[in-house]
Amino acid sequence: MIGLIKTWKELHAKGIMGINRRNADYVLKYNKRSLYPIVDDKIITKLRAIEAGIHVPEMYGIIETEKQIEKLDEIIGDRNDFVIKPAQGAGGDGIMVIADRFEGNFKTVSGKIVSHEDIEYLLSSILTGLYSLGGHRDRALIEYRVSPDQIFKSISYEGVPDIRIIVLKGYPVMAMLRLPTRQSGGKANLHQGAIGVGVDLATGITLKGTWLNNKISKHPDTTNAVDGVQLPDWDGFMKLAAGCYELCGLGYIGVDMVLDQDKGPLILELNARPGLNIQIANDCGLFHRCHAVEDRLAELEKDDIIESPEERVKFAQKQFGHVPKKTD
Ligand SMILES: Nc1ncnc2c1ncn2[C@@H]1O[C@H](COP(=O)(O)OP(=O)(O)O)[C@@H](O)[C@H]1O
Ligand SMILES: [Mg+2]
Repeated sequence: MIGLIKTWKELHAKGIMGINRRNADYVLKYNKRSLYPIVDDKIITKLRAIEAGIHVPEMYGIIETEKQIEKLDEIIGDRNDFVIKPAQGAGGDGIMVIADRFEGNFKTVSGKIVSHEDIEYLLSSILTGLYSLGGHRDRALIEYRVSPDQIFKSISYEGVPDIRIIVLKGYPVMAMLRLPTRQSGGKANLHQGAIGVGVDLATGITLKGTWLNNKISKHPDTTNAVDGVQLPDWDGFMKLAAGCYELCGLGYIGVDMVLDQDKGPLILELNARPGLNIQIANDCGLFHRCHAVEDRLAELEKDDIIESPEERVKFAQKQFGHVPKKTD
């Protein structure tokens, strides 16, 4: 706890954004309530993305009612791996990543054996709203299991790392690579125990990380250094994230992406209230960066200019690259 307070104190000088400011000046100001369902329901996000030609993990099926749980076998077919998740879940809760079959049962990505009944139980818990925001009835989504690109082998433990980019009015402002650990059970959510590693916006090279709110430089399971890793196709990820503004219309979002070894970059989900720990991972506050974007927009507005996703990415890479200029 002391470590945490110290970390946040240090960050204060670097323009840290706290939860009140995030909510008042960004989430409430830039995210229209009526647009929330697009990001708060992963099925709706997926359909939108497909419409816009953006790649996502393939949806195998949806289960909406208790009666439909019997459709599970039909949905899975003869596949050996798949993922079940609540459409309106968050923080990695209620997600089961099945990696294989095992003697009439299934095996999760962390090696746990689960029976058909276990899966049926999860499905019915999802439907009753156990994992949904506000406890409302929910739908279960069954989708393609992402296989992480080989690049992550040395710095990740089981499961799929994801890349989170915070995007303000279409401008990427900060990025983080999240790495599953033994503790996080194959999920890349920080509160499940995954590591957050800062990423230099200009180059896609990883910086140091944060784990359970402490600063770290090595993966606790693999002991390999997490910094200095070049993420592949970085400009592609930046463009994908920037374009999510047009996709959902929300002005302040966290875009979560994965790199599949066969399918390349995919959008996993969008968040309307992205967490603030990304600032610890980057050892840098969001405040000045967000301001720089707002200043930029005010300038452009004078001349009636709207920048394309490519132009916005260029701006972000120039402004927010590592060793940022003092004026940032
Ligand atoms: N299709 C998938 N294949 C493999 N792992 C997945 C898949 N979907 C989610 N995961 C893992 O679970 C984590 C959380 O999934 P996500 O869809 O972002 O839901 P949440 O809103 O709960 O964060 C991801 O970061 C990833 O590590
Ligand atoms: Mg997520």
